[in-house]
Amino acid sequence: MAITGIETLVYGVENINECVAFFEDFGLNLKSRSEECAQFQLEEGSKVEIRSIKDPSLPDSILQGTGVREVIWGVDSTENLEALVASLQTDRDLRRDADGTAHFKSDCGLPLGLRLYDKKKVLNCPDPLNAPGVAGRLNVSRKWRLRARPKTITHVVFAVEDFVASHRFFEERLGFRLSEYQIHLGIYMRCDGASDHHNLFLLDMNSGSAPGYPIYHHANFGVEDIDELMVGTNHMKRRGWSVGGLGQGRHRIASALFSYFKSPTGGEVEYGSDSDYLDDNYVPREWNALFGLQSWMTEQPEWIKNAQIEWHAKHMTEGMPAHIRSIKDLPDDGKLA
Ligand SMILES: [Fe+2]
Repeated sequence: MAITGIETLVYGVENINECVAFFEDFGLNLKSRSEECAQFQLEEGSKVEIRSIKDPSLPDSILQGTGVREVIWGVDSTENLEALVASLQTDRDLRRDADGTAHFKSDCGLPLGLRLYDKKKVLNCPDPLNAPGVAGRLNVSRKWRLRARPKTITHVVFAVEDFVASHRFFEERLGFRLSEYQIHLGIYMRCDGASDHHNLFLLDMNSGSAPGYPIYHHANFGVEDIDELMVGTNHMKRRGWSVGGLGQGRHRIASALFSYFKSPTGGEVEYGSDSDYLDDNYVPREWNALFGLQSWMTEQPEWIKNAQIEWHAKHMTEGMPAHIRSIKDLPDDGKLA
């Protein structure tokens, strides 16, 4: 198996024109536009597809409201695609398009697809950092930028009823790797053919980060460094788009810089940069939820500023214990040992 990442995010939205304007301001390249569908393509070859939420071609879903209505995961070879399809067909409905794309649902009802994906390697050249006594750049300026131009779709996030059970499906049936467990909040995982810290985060729909029913939460788009992230952020603000719930900062989990915007697609969209990379040598950790959420933020909300945060990040040498089959099996404090 080798799923290499998100090939397409298919959105169902209220207002296609507004969403096209949003993603153009965000820095994506519009590839095609028709009455029914707008499609953006990123440098790695991945796509964002915008359709009306009433479009009959969208799969039915556990997800309520607008937002991503189907994630098409990219597979590196026909052989691997057919092996995944053969396995999935044993216990669920699966539909094929003429081009071989397979459509199906996870055990918890998330609409998913698999498609052959020739993922392109993108090129970045972040400016070296300076520090007192350390000159990564001597007599050299950092890049000057006008706009952010994301080159990758890094991850997508959904709120689901039981993130432990939903995670098992991705691990056992699609080969995803566990990256982290954020206590009582959710599970981060990556595709077996990707080294991004995570390509999918499933969070508890009753955690307070979601309204108590399954929703699309946000998607993350990769930019080169903090300058591109903040130049993009300034441009989005100038264009009148609203900053998302966490604003700008750095997550402690994945060490990733973030900048969130509320999106007319529903949910939010995130610029991301300087995230950790993982391979199969990584030992996942369980994290205190607030400790993992942020290392710093430009505008800390009161509920974080005044919180007593336990510095807890403990390696899980065995991954999620097999007896934890659902949220209901978690101990009261959420800690696995
Ligand atoms: Fe994110």
